[in-house]
Amino acid sequence: MASFKSLPGFRDFYPEELAPRTHLFRQWRRAAHAYGFQEYDAPVLESLDLYKAKSGDEIEGQLFSFADKGGRDVALRPEMTPTVCRMVGARANALKRPIKWFSIADFFRYERMQKGRGRCFAQFNADIFGEAGPEAEIELISLLIQCLRGLDLQAEDFYVRLSDRNLWFFYLAALGLEEEQTQSMLGAIDKFERLGEEAFKVYTDAHGAMSAELQAAVQRMLAIKTLSDLETVVAELDHPQLSARLDDWRRVLSGLEAMGLAEFVSVDLGVVRGLAYYTGFVFEAFDRKGDLRALAGGGRYDNLVQKLGGPDLPAVGFAIGDMTMELLLQERGLLPDVANKPDVYVVIGGPEERRVAFGDIAALRAVGYRVDYPLKDLGFGKQFKNATESGARLALIYGGDELANGVVKLRDLSQREEFEVPREQVALAVSDFLSA
Ligand code: HAM
Repeated sequence: MASFKSLPGFRDFYPEELAPRTHLFRQWRRAAHAYGFQEYDAPVLESLDLYKAKSGDEIEGQLFSFADKGGRDVALRPEMTPTVCRMVGARANALKRPIKWFSIADFFRYERMQKGRGRCFAQFNADIFGEAGPEAEIELISLLIQCLRGLDLQAEDFYVRLSDRNLWFFYLAALGLEEEQTQSMLGAIDKFERLGEEAFKVYTDAHGAMSAELQAAVQRMLAIKTLSDLETVVAELDHPQLSARLDDWRRVLSGLEAMGLAEFVSVDLGVVRGLAYYTGFVFEAFDRKGDLRALAGGGRYDNLVQKLGGPDLPAVGFAIGDMTMELLLQERGLLPDVANKPDVYVVIGGPEERRVAFGDIAALRAVGYRVDYPLKDLGFGKQFKNATESGARLALIYGGDELANGVVKLRDLSQREEFEVPREQVALAVSDFLSA
């Protein structure tokens, strides 16, 4: 018989592999709750049209798509953003604004496989709808930072690179570029970090040679690292829209600074984001030391709700992926031992004692202790071995002699010390032992 394996790029989660992921999800959910976000969920299968021309060529080329039995063209979702826009758009009038929503879900992209990239991965998505001002960016960038700090990552581990497609639009317009030229130039900028000057081919292939001044002006923006550098460049151009845009930058950065988060954020116009729908601020989180691909990415997308048939509703959001995040935590030794170990392992003499033990096991579990026991009768030696291997700190021994005397024996599994307590005091003794 052929043996089956999971498909390339898809992961099985054995318990020891699921536990770290559950740890990530727990911390992300906790952060989202602290920030007042509401959780939602959505179908994994959507109409193919939802992604066509909206997510951008790269994602469109990676879709898992097919015709269903009813002849509909459908796709497994490659991202949440079009779906959440569809959902919010349909009820926009009834929802109290600002709408602050989050989800944790699986996504599917037929990508070339590499470290930290798979074909089915999880994302934490957080989005705010109905807030046009940069206050939404402040809230989301700080939530993103909190999601990573909640996993014990610090400012020396990661940072958020903040950029702005609007600023690029105004800047390139001020340099005399037309709309189409601007789009190609953003495509080139997206590749600049990886390819260097080679990246400008994206622009020159479409629009012919580019002047040395234009290239120098673009590279000057790419070299900017601080708000004051940016202010200097913008001041020279004397362009009203560009100057007005700098006010938004000041609001975002001073808001984050007031939250004590300045050290996590850097100005970096090299980030423009591959997805087609972004309209304003865009940002990505990266590992500071390693060569991992982005941990998270997001930005403002003010036109997408309307493009998908909803009302005109401004929006900002981001997503963190589980795969790069787990690699980073592993590298830094920050994945805690989160296996589900029992608090107590119950050792049972035989069928008679089992009936007595079951009552106490049920009572201990009912008050929240993690209790395990052998499903079948086994010799004491084997049971003590299982107790030790289970990782429990305490064993309760329900032997015939003990029960005849109205007592239960407790064994401290790390010290190998034993003591007896009257049966009716078992719960109290367990509580005392485990809290000591
Ligand atoms: P994205 O940059 O395509 O943005 O994905 C966000 C994160 O998901 C990435 O930084 C990465 O950690 C993870 N990710 C993406 N593709 C893969 C893959 N093939 N394997 C493993 N991890 C992956 C979005 O998806 C936007 N929809 C985010 C957003 C939400 N924008 C606004 N709201």
